[in-house]
This record gives sequence, structure tokens and C-alpha cells, in this order.
Amino acid sequence: MRALLDRLEREHSLSRDEWVFLFEHRNAESLEYLKQKARAVADRCFGKDIYTRGLIEFTNYCRNDCLYCGIRRSNRNAERYRLTREEILQCCEDGYALGFRTFVLQGGEDASYSDEDMVRIVRSIKAGFPDCAVTLSVGEKSRDSYLRFFEAGADRYLLRHETADFEHYRRLHPPELSPEHRRECLWNLKEIGYQVGTGFMVGAPGQTAECLAEDMLFIRELEPHMVGIGPFVPHHETPLAKEPGGSVELTLWCIGVLRLMLPQALIPATTALGTIAPDGREQGILAGANVVMPNLSPVAVRKKYELYDNKICTGEEAAECRFCLAGRMERIGYRIAVSRGDHPSIRKED
Ligand code: 5AD
Ligand code: FES
Repeated sequence: MRALLDRLEREHSLSRDEWVFLFEHRNAESLEYLKQKARAVADRCFGKDIYTRGLIEFTNYCRNDCLYCGIRRSNRNAERYRLTREEILQCCEDGYALGFRTFVLQGGEDASYSDEDMVRIVRSIKAGFPDCAVTLSVGEKSRDSYLRFFEAGADRYLLRHETADFEHYRRLHPPELSPEHRRECLWNLKEIGYQVGTGFMVGAPGQTAECLAEDMLFIRELEPHMVGIGPFVPHHETPLAKEPGGSVELTLWCIGVLRLMLPQALIPATTALGTIAPDGREQGILAGANVVMPNLSPVAVRKKYELYDNKICTGEEAAECRFCLAGRMERIGYRIAVSRGDHPSIRKED
């Protein structure tokens, strides 16, 4: 086990069989070993700085029906909302004052925002906050739409591949969504020039060591700038309500091996991880993560963007989360950086 982790650190890749072995044979002792290694690699690349992004969940309308997700279109009990451009800009204004230099616009796949609307939103943010990065996370679009958003100034794009095992993908999604198209979107985003983030849910129903091995091989191949992973957390209004959630241990294991595979990647300690353990995000950082993404959405809509049950921080103001997280990071020896927090390969901190 240790020899494999040592080699992963040296060579940044493993064979499919070796990945399966790693996921099948991990235990408490090897997790400790991995965490120490992964944290040392992150410290070497980023020091004690933790990057932060202000998350603006601007719409919970979604045309998709992913089986795991609380805002799937079949959930008639979800109370739907949309933010206007003015409301989004107000979130950025508040966020800027709190030290955020990256804004992540995340939403369901909501066709009521046309490409033109998105372009206008991106342009206004970039005009109002020229020293900030804009990250979009609005799902699968045509290459042409991605290009228009990029030309409007969007810097980054988050689109989790969700699972790299095609069979598994089809088990978690309705038939109109395909893993092939998902990948095509990711390759288009990369080719256009975005800093790209992908990722998956840990412990999603039906996930095996082989699925996780595929995830690692796909991420190795894509070489994304960011990798977002968090535990699957069941949502009571979905077909997967009764399934068990992902564990803290397996999530930390995934963060650790990702850090060894992609030393410079931006890896968040996710809200989902903070939801299943009170110190989940701190544990994520100590296992090699280097980003936190507190919520900037207006408190009035927070609870409605409920992808999974018991999501944390739905009652707190943006400033409360900002200071809470600063304290949490300081207590484990880290500090929140006031910067765009680009991938080390990108140099545009102007
Ligand atoms: N548990 C954990 N993560 C979820 N997501 C969606 N539903 C859930 C859930 N029940 C994740 C997906 C998506 C991201 C925005 O949230 O991976 O890409
Ligand atoms: Fe939101 Fe602690 S980060 S309350």
C-alpha cells in the first residue's frame, strides 16, 4: 500500500488494476499515511494559503432529472427561485467587500436565462469587478454557448463528470443524459481555454472500486485545473432517498490520492463534506484540499438550493460564513487568501 502511494506521488499515475487495489485495500493506517503525504504536497505548492470562492446559487430551476439531486425537475415540492442580474451583482458587491476575488455562478439547467442573458451577467460582473475571476457552473451547453460565455469574460467552468463508469452514469441519470455528451462538453471547455473543473460524488449508489478507478483514469486524462468531490448525501424527495450516503473516510481518501496525482490542482473541501461531519471541511484541507467555497446567495433563497438533505450554512449571512471559515482555517494552521486563486499554471493576477 505504502509503496503504491509513494509511486503515485513520484509518477502521478497508476494502472487501472493498481487503482482498484488502492480503493479496495485502504484502511485507517494507510489513510493516515496518505493524508500526511497529500498535505505535504499541497503545502509545497500553496503554502498555508487556502483559496476561497464566493458561490452564488442563482437559480434552482432545472430541466434535468438526475436521480440523486434535490432540485431535479420531478421534485414538485422544491420551491423554485431565480435571481435577477441586479441581485447577482449585489451578491458580488457584498462578496467583494468580504475579500472574495472569484465568483462562482451556479445553477440548474434553466433555459429561462438565454445565452444573451448569461453573457450580460458575465460582462457586468467583469466590468464591475475587473480584478475578479468568474466561474460558471450551469451544466451542459453547446460549444458555441461555451465560447460566447468565454468571450464575455468567463474564466473558469465547473462541470462534474459525476462518474466515469458509463454503466454507473446511466444508473444515476435519466436516459436523455449521456456520459459521452458530458465528456464532450468537458473537452470543449478545455479546448476553448477555460480553467476547467470536474469531479464526482463519493459513495454514490452503485459505485464500486472499479468506478473510482475509472474516475481517476479519466481525471488523469482530462487534466482539469480543479476537481470537486464530496460525499453523496441522500435527498428525501429523490428516488435515492433511502440509499446510504458516502463516508468521510472514502472522501478523504479520494482527496488525498487526487492531490498526489495532480499536485497543483484546485481541490475544494466541499459543503457536502462539511454536512456529513462537523469538521468535514477542516478534515478535507488536512487531507490535501486547498479551496473553500462559502455561499454568497441571499439568505432568503439559501434553503431552496437543496441538492441534498441537511445542507449546512443555509441560515447564515455571507459575512458569517466568511468569518466562520476564516476561524476554522486558522485553528488548523491555514489562512484564507484574498486573491483570484488561479491554477499555478495560469498567470493573470492582474
Ligand atoms: N449529494 C451530494 N452531491 C450532490 N450533487 C447533486 N446532488 C447531490 C447529492 N444528493 C452534486 C453533483 C453536482 C453538484 C453541483 O452537486 O455532483 O455536480
Ligand atoms: Fe457557514 Fe460556518 S461556514 S456558518
